Amino acid sequence: MDADLAELFANNRRWADAMTAADAGFFADLAEHQAPRFCWVGCADSRVPANQIIGLYPGDVFVHRNVANLVVHTDLNCLSVLQYAIDVLQVEHVIVTGHYGCGGVQAALRDAKLGLIDNWLRHVQDVARDHAGELAAIDDDVARADRLCELNVMAQVANVVRTSIAHDAWARGQRLAVHGWIYSLDDGLLRDLDVSVDGLR
Ligand code: CO
Repeated sequence: MDADLAELFANNRRWADAMTAADAGFFADLAEHQAPRFCWVGCADSRVPANQIIGLYPGDVFVHRNVANLVVHTDLNCLSVLQYAIDVLQVEHVIVTGHYGCGGVQAALRDAKLGLIDNWLRHVQDVARDHAGELAAIDDDVARADRLCELNVMAQVANVVRTSIAHDAWARGQRLAVHGWIYSLDDGLLRDLDVSVDGLR
């Protein structure tokens, strides 16, 4: 095996050994069932790994990641994750987490031509169009892109809230809150964008 890949297996062996040393029943318990309280919708960016950022173990968070942390109403993949998390696992919190310096958001803002992904990033361009005035008023390119990262998270929170999945959960009295957070690559810290929704309006 390629040395780089062999290293991954060696890492895995060390990690599994350490987990078992700390808690002999850890894997056996998790193999039985999962009961995460959180569902994370984040960017696929390698620098924004869900579990590590929020200090959670396997079993604690149900994760969906895609480029630019989008919740698109026709994306069967994302919707299936939300439906399973909310209906079956009964998570209490869905957290959409964006990050500053998001390459997908930056590409959308400068209308980059990168291939198939341009079509996916149209959704971010839709968000930019909705806030064209505010974004145009920001002189600094980095600040403008970072603001779009925030606006994009807020738009995706609204998209989660508008799904039939969230509506049905609230209609039957299920406890569920949807949140929008943003992560800074510069200092590793999360910030709450304060756009949480916990019921039908
Ligand atoms: Co990103």
